[in-house]
Amino acid sequence: MAKKKIVVTSALPYANGSIHIGHLVEYIQTDIFVRFLKLTGEDAIYCCADDTHGTPIQLKSEQLKITPEKLIAKYSKEHQEDFKAFHIKFDSYYTTNSPENQKYAEFIFKKLKDNGDIYTKEITQTYCEQCQRFLPDRYVKGECPKCGAPDQYGDVCESCGTAHSTTELINPRCAICGAPASKKSSNHYFFRLSSYSKKLDKWLTGNKMLQPEIVNYIRNWIKEGLQDWDISRDGPYFGFKIPGEENKYFYVWLDAPVGYISSTANYCRDKKFKEDAYWKKPAGEIIHVIGKDIIYFHYLFWPAMLMGSGFNLPKYIVTHGFLTVNGEKMSKSRGTFFTAREFLEKFDPQLLRYYYASMLSKKMVDIDLDFKDFQDKANNELVANIANFCFRVLSFTNKNFGSKIGEIDENKRLFAEILEKAEKAKKCYADFNFNQAVKEILAISSAGNKYFQEKEPWKMVKENEEEAKKVLGTCINIVKVLSIVASPVLPFFAEKIQSQLNLPDLEWDDINFETKNHEISKAEMVIRKLESVEIQKDIFPLDLKVARITAAGPHPEADKLVVLQIDLGKEKRQIVAGIKKYYKPEELVGKNIIVVSNLKPAKLRGIESNGMLLAALKGEKLVLLGAPNSSPGDQVSAEGAETNKAQITIDDFAKVKLGVRDKKVLYNEKALKTEKEEVTAEIEDGAKVS
Ligand code: 2FM
Ligand code: ZN
Repeated sequence: MAKKKIVVTSALPYANGSIHIGHLVEYIQTDIFVRFLKLTGEDAIYCCADDTHGTPIQLKSEQLKITPEKLIAKYSKEHQEDFKAFHIKFDSYYTTNSPENQKYAEFIFKKLKDNGDIYTKEITQTYCEQCQRFLPDRYVKGECPKCGAPDQYGDVCESCGTAHSTTELINPRCAICGAPASKKSSNHYFFRLSSYSKKLDKWLTGNKMLQPEIVNYIRNWIKEGLQDWDISRDGPYFGFKIPGEENKYFYVWLDAPVGYISSTANYCRDKKFKEDAYWKKPAGEIIHVIGKDIIYFHYLFWPAMLMGSGFNLPKYIVTHGFLTVNGEKMSKSRGTFFTAREFLEKFDPQLLRYYYASMLSKKMVDIDLDFKDFQDKANNELVANIANFCFRVLSFTNKNFGSKIGEIDENKRLFAEILEKAEKAKKCYADFNFNQAVKEILAISSAGNKYFQEKEPWKMVKENEEEAKKVLGTCINIVKVLSIVASPVLPFFAEKIQSQLNLPDLEWDDINFETKNHEISKAEMVIRKLESVEIQKDIFPLDLKVARITAAGPHPEADKLVVLQIDLGKEKRQIVAGIKKYYKPEELVGKNIIVVSNLKPAKLRGIESNGMLLAALKGEKLVLLGAPNSSPGDQVSAEGAETNKAQITIDDFAKVKLGVRDKKVLYNEKALKTEKEEVTAEIEDGAKVS
């Protein structure tokens, strides 16, 4: 039988945001697996790409006034640098916006069409006349059709939890420009997923490598009846045009998984074999690693697409859970959200690889990065047990035997014990049970430490140098074995140790006790102890909200003051402000302003003011801070800081320093923003905000 050609993939990250430690779970998991396969002599490659199409990428590039191509190029570069920094090594890292991907997307589409699996149908969707675009779920807001809660997105109500469609929202508005949204119909392409129900069910039950808990609930979906899949989007859209159409594009999720194939094609560019070798019979084998949020695509749509176009089906789809940090969802304000880069500023990337490995299994469970545990594992396991053992043995050999070993202490029981642990680790790696593999790694190093400790070579060397040298020879072999078994998890560490051993590029087959009469290089400690893992909380004292001015009038007793009625989404309030010199009351009505909502109410010349608006002042000029595209009641926060909700006094307020730069409003260098936009102040740099 031909040797298997294995392609392993991770989900393709969207090219509009940075990689964070949540993403890294999957890339590290996949990288460990592929490194293991290669180490054991398998013909395996790791293929990935940036996922570059769709509405969010298009809108973001519009906002930034750059082309989508430029935006995705920037993120592609950043992503690849970040992966490299975490020692994640791809055989191909490509892009879904490539000619190969277009070719394969069109090819698969045509196959499905020829099979009779594609049809078109008029559908009605939410549309914004102002933006001249159809609005996907997250770009429409309105009242929930079930419970009436205001300000809900077009997919699900956060208040009552009911799912709905954008067209069911009451009083829908475009979340991009705020204009009222309308309905419009257009012709869409559908993939007849329903006609694959039987075949999918057969694959799910026949493939014993799939995680049973997932198979069960996918089979339930099939039983309930699969909906056909809308695979087209009307322009403006960043993606591939549907052949024969002027203004219709493939939905991003159609061409995204195709990126797995085109990334393989990119790898095969200069090879004798082509991507079919990995994707088709007789030798191709496909392994996907994904997160639990994209199960539907990978267990239904994608296999159906593969079936319909003559490719193999995935052998494995390894599905991991989400990452929590210190037991909770990652959060900027708790200081537990780290981009890859932020993490690197604080910690050695190897510590994260090791930690994740120690938590990962083939079960779809969430993983918690507990920083106390992280420190314990780094210091007590990685440094004190593994790294110290290697350093001790190597430096002892440097010092006492001129870096040379000769014959070794033929301790058969110890050899058997260690080889058995290596063999167990091998099985665990192959089964994606990396947590168990880490246990075996630790056990090997503990056995080495114990042997060294019991033999006391530091005493022995004075009485019987030859015997001591033999003990060290055996220890050098243990270090060698350890470096090989640990290398999928700790490739950088393994490479350094193997170079210190003068035994570069070891493979799994080099696991033995046959290294004798050998000279090593100089020992160096490769991983340092972690002194502190303190993560900081930053608290922003002001509870700021977007408010819309609904009425404005003069203050009966004071020339400089105006009395404003404001809408804060869930409540209406009255505030008094000293801005009469700068704004006419009628100019104010309808404006979105920023209000301090946790200020103790006060009376200003006899009229109650329940809150205070924020304005920027420089010289003779005063402007109100604004957030024109946000909705009344939207929270304004200082990026990454937690908001204090408790009431504050005017004295507390006076201590808060806010400044303006590039029309942004900054608190401790953090920009004030709503979920939709940054707060702006149309005034020169250096203006004071109060
Ligand atoms: O969910 C996501 O982040 C997608 N970009 C994953 C795509 S995976 C594959 F199918 F392309
Ligand atoms: Zn709009």
